[in-house]
Amino acid sequence: MNYYQSATKRKSTRQFKDKEVSASVISEIKEYFGKCKRLVPDINVEMSVLDMKSAPVLTGCAGYEDYLIEAPQYILITSEKSEYYLENAGFIGEDLILKLTDMGIATCWVTISDEAKMKERLRIASDMVPAGFIAIGYEDSVKSIKRLDIVNQSNVTLKKRSSYEAPKLFIDDAIIAEDMGIKGEPSTLDHYTDLYQALVAACCSPSFLNRQPYRFIINDGLFMLVEFKDDETDENDAHLNLGILMLNFYGVLSERSGVYGKWSLDVPESEKAKVTVPEGGKIVAGIKI
Ligand SMILES: Cc1cc2nc3c(=O)[nH]c(=O)nc-3n(C[C@H](O)[C@H](O)[C@H](O)COP(=O)(O)O)c2cc1C
Repeated sequence: MNYYQSATKRKSTRQFKDKEVSASVISEIKEYFGKCKRLVPDINVEMSVLDMKSAPVLTGCAGYEDYLIEAPQYILITSEKSEYYLENAGFIGEDLILKLTDMGIATCWVTISDEAKMKERLRIASDMVPAGFIAIGYEDSVKSIKRLDIVNQSNVTLKKRSSYEAPKLFIDDAIIAEDMGIKGEPSTLDHYTDLYQALVAACCSPSFLNRQPYRFIINDGLFMLVEFKDDETDENDAHLNLGILMLNFYGVLSERSGVYGKWSLDVPESEKAKVTVPEGGKIVAGIKI
């Protein structure tokens, strides 16, 4: 799979054909799950595929305003509930989504609005919780497109992508501070293809209601992810958003050279002290670039 191509091609689908994804695709994705990227490898995670018959059971547990997108199948990621389990589930789920995109399968993240209810209804083992939920299938482009009212989080320019619904952050707006000379001279990025493509992928990441409540700071070779609290996004989805973004950035950054390290979810205070974070922002992760 080419991460950059998948990350820029991916979009959320909300209208699916009445046709199940074949058993061979499901078995390939299950195999991929066994070896896909993990943010916190020690956390125990499992993946299962639910079919449409599960949808009525999930009423009131999943979807924007509890409206569950009708899809022929859903991927459920269950996880042990330890620190960063949602960032990890977002990271894994997004890796599955990019793989499915590469395989021509349409997807959409679905919010788990009531974790406890979903756990009970699906009889999930006591030591695990539902962490990530994704609708999968084949896009039905004939049915009318359900549009989302996407509200831009702050005063930034969003890039319209042709034939896509969701406008995305411009790289220049996404980077709030950096010491590489990019903001004054964006063509600087021409010399850093890995970084440039990783930034594009990060800006194309799916996020809850497309709010994209994060920005970046680059300082002294450290790329830092800054989270901003967003009134529309609940805590669990905010954690998933971060994991999803980290996968898009890391998948693309590391795919060609493999020389890059991993994300750290514990940026040293000494590194944080070197930069000024705008009000309301919090550095939540960093990766050496
Ligand atoms: C954590 C999370 C939860 C989401 N939940 C839903 C959902 O319940 N229903 C829905 O239609 N879309 C959902 N989405 C999809 C977003 O609305 C979508 O990613 C965003 O609008 C950007 O569009 P794009 O994915 O086409 O780039 C969710 C996305 C994320 C990351």
